[in-house]
Amino acid sequence: MTGKLMLSANKRHVLDALDIPRWQLRQTEAVIEPVARPQSGLESPSKPMVADIPVDRPLPGNGSPDPTVVASPSIDELNWSDLYQRVAGCHACGLSQQRTQTVFGVGDQSADWLIVGEAPGQEEDQRGEPFVGRAGQLLDNMLQAIGLARSQVYITNIVKCRPPGNRDPHVDERDACRGYLKRQIALLRPKIIVVVGRVAAHALLETEEAVGKLRGGEFNYGTSEIPLVVTYHPAYLLRSPSEKSKAWSDLCFARERYNAVLAKG
Ligand code: URA
Repeated sequence: MTGKLMLSANKRHVLDALDIPRWQLRQTEAVIEPVARPQSGLESPSKPMVADIPVDRPLPGNGSPDPTVVASPSIDELNWSDLYQRVAGCHACGLSQQRTQTVFGVGDQSADWLIVGEAPGQEEDQRGEPFVGRAGQLLDNMLQAIGLARSQVYITNIVKCRPPGNRDPHVDERDACRGYLKRQIALLRPKIIVVVGRVAAHALLETEEAVGKLRGGEFNYGTSEIPLVVTYHPAYLLRSPSEKSKAWSDLCFARERYNAVLAKG
């Protein structure tokens, strides 16, 4: 199913969900190209996976190096499944005390598009999957509006455990999770990152600027060449539906930046 086909089939539903006046659709269809999917099997060699590494073993009691003991590999060396296991067993901050389970991320592990949110909410904590509540449904509609199915992107959060009462994650909690997202990005090697909401934008861009000021900025992820686009969090859009048209512009902007990456080759 191409993005374009999907957009046509669902356009009324999607545009209504985003409160986008239908007259904008012509413009969208003219500007937005269908998503170029990675050709399965062909991309793998350029996305090397890290080989399996021995599992964690206890350190010797006297503190001296024991040549028979293999130290835990660093996060930067883990492959997808070992990274998943590392996150599932993480107790690096207090959020691990109250979680039902960790929420690692979901989607195509060779996706070009990475969507990064803040932290799991109650439903995500229960189901172990990011963005499955009402905000998640809106996120799915936003993606559909630019021709992307949920299964075609990778979705995760900067923090993998639910903060109690859905409060913002504290700085130490964000820091404890930072290496996990960094490794997910290294394994995925996305062609574009869309960051939804203030908390995730602040963590990834190391700024305190309001999302309203960050929107439309031509950022890259860290020192990489991966374009990073900031938009409003879907939960915020549910509370402030009049801002949905701005999110729509942001996604069109993301699509333009993505097309520019593809054009560069
Ligand atoms: N909000 C987020 O930022 N992430 C989720 O997974 C759910 C809600």
